Amino acid sequence: MRASVALFLSLGLVTAGAHLQPRQTATIPDFVTKYAPLVYLDQNELYLPSDLQAQLENTYPALNFTQLPKADIPSPLLLSDLEQLNIFGNCGENFDACPIYLTSKDDVTANPPWLYGVLPDPVTGESVGATSCAIIVNDHGNGLVDAYYMYFYAFNLGETVLGQVLGDHVGDWEHSMVRFQNGLPISVWLSQHDYGQAFTYDSLSKKGSRPIIYSAIGSHANYAVPGTHSRNVSIVTINDYTSPGPVWDPTLSAYFYSYTPFSPTNGTFVASLPSTPVGWLYFEGRWGDEQYPDSDPRQVNFLNASIAWKYESGPTGPLDKGLNRTDVCPNVSGTPCSTLSTLPATSGSSIPVTVTRTTATYSSVPTMTSKGNRTSSVGPTGSPSPTLSVSGARALNANIGCTLWGVVVALMLL
Ligand SMILES: *[C@@H]1O[C@H](CO)[C@@H](O)[C@H](O)[C@H]1NC(C)=O
Ligand SMILES: *[C@@H]1O[C@H](CO)[C@@H](O)[C@H](O)[C@H]1NC(C)=O
Ligand SMILES: *[C@@H]1O[C@H](CO)[C@@H](O)[C@H](O)[C@H]1NC(C)=O
Ligand SMILES: *[C@@H]1O[C@H](CO)[C@@H](O)[C@H](O)[C@H]1NC(C)=O
Ligand SMILES: *[C@@H]1O[C@H](CO)[C@@H](O)[C@H](O)[C@H]1NC(C)=O
Ligand SMILES: *[C@@H]1O[C@H](CO)[C@@H](O)[C@H](O)[C@H]1NC(C)=O
Ligand SMILES: *[C@@H]1O[C@H](CO)[C@@H](O)[C@H](O)[C@H]1NC(C)=O
Repeated sequence: MRASVALFLSLGLVTAGAHLQPRQTATIPDFVTKYAPLVYLDQNELYLPSDLQAQLENTYPALNFTQLPKADIPSPLLLSDLEQLNIFGNCGENFDACPIYLTSKDDVTANPPWLYGVLPDPVTGESVGATSCAIIVNDHGNGLVDAYYMYFYAFNLGETVLGQVLGDHVGDWEHSMVRFQNGLPISVWLSQHDYGQAFTYDSLSKKGSRPIIYSAIGSHANYAVPGTHSRNVSIVTINDYTSPGPVWDPTLSAYFYSYTPFSPTNGTFVASLPSTPVGWLYFEGRWGDEQYPDSDPRQVNFLNASIAWKYESGPTGPLDKGLNRTDVCPNVSGTPCSTLSTLPATSGSSIPVTVTRTTATYSSVPTMTSKGNRTSSVGPTGSPSPTLSVSGARALNANIGCTLWGVVVALMLL
């Protein structure tokens, strides 16, 4: 998947089949993999990186909770054809108004195995057999290059507020972005819920040249340090937890693309290999179920306030993440972009260890002893620990626009 391979295959195609219309292939600079973040999954994480095509196979596209007629859609539904679904939702150019939902064929409360993804190989960090990352390179010119590392998980386990898990959803897209100047990494964006944090490359912990980032248990929000990450939503404190659990090297099972914007919110993707699917990047629908109605027995309308629910709708894909940024931060409501140059102090810990992982069952799916209980039987014991160089402390409150703001209103209604 590296540039040299891409070039070789691309030339091969051109010479071997001049009558074919060879697809254009992107050259991915070496520094995009050399400085790619390594992701430390939480030690208790059950919802692991997941295969993109598998998400299509384990779901059906639905509109208003009704399956699109099978005869009308490509069969089998492939990543390369996924954008063909847009037309059924009259999606136009509007992600927000695109009502197509890749809806689980299984009842998610029955814990179907595919929701759990793949535990990365303990030696290489590869999510073997699961292409669970898309690496998208936007070359702004003048030596300024942004590389987006888009992480896919089949399921997002929400966070607990007043004893209630809120914000579960099928499908989860998170990302980091490294901004390069003349081939050297300058700064790194970490997605967290509806926003995130930016750090200088130098300030982050590393393994060799590669920044270490921590994926929070369940939500998969990305942080620069392990521990407890609290954010106050008025009087309610909501926590994410990270720890140096299994190491995931997303570059080993990724699709690579270049991206050239033709508008502020859209552009052209070119894959690094002719065999890499492209169409899915233009899909405007959601990668999971539509929020279940309150009448669905699985749903919990928190405090009956119609503000936060146990199950939310699945997310839109990478194109909706701001792929042509001025700053390293996405432009969310004009929020100023501040890049932190020291790591925050580590505080708290991950949730208490309830997972007993054994090295023998790396490729198997974690089993849950009871719904909503993280007790599990598989996973690594020998995950390499990151070398931490923590210095300084910094108050962080980067969360904005979280749907859980509404919890406050809900509490006031009590
Ligand atoms: C969705 O389905 C419900 C029930 O079948 C129906 O009442 C409603 O009008 C539909 N909405 C749209 C936008 O089609
Ligand atoms: C992006 O551009 C493609 C190709 O022109 C188009 O089909 C699609 O609707 C556009 N998507 C958005 C969100 O604007
Ligand atoms: C949350 O609020 C508590 C109590 O006011 C405060 O001690 C804490 O520092 C706040 N945490 C964050 C992340 O702002
Ligand atoms: C992409 O972003 C750059 C830098 O912010 C900007 O100058 C350019 O106009 C944008 N391109 C499009 C097509 O919006
Ligand atoms: C929630 O509201 C519905 C009507 O909106 C009502 O039927 C139900 O009893 C309420 N549940 C609780 C727990 O208050
Ligand atoms: C950022 O977003 C604000 C509104 O949300 C808009 O006014 C502004 O032009 C945007 N800036 C850039 C550089 O796109
Ligand atoms: C979770 O598992 C632990 C250990 O088996 C058990 O003590 C606890 O009651 C379980 N909690 C729930 C909510 O099922």
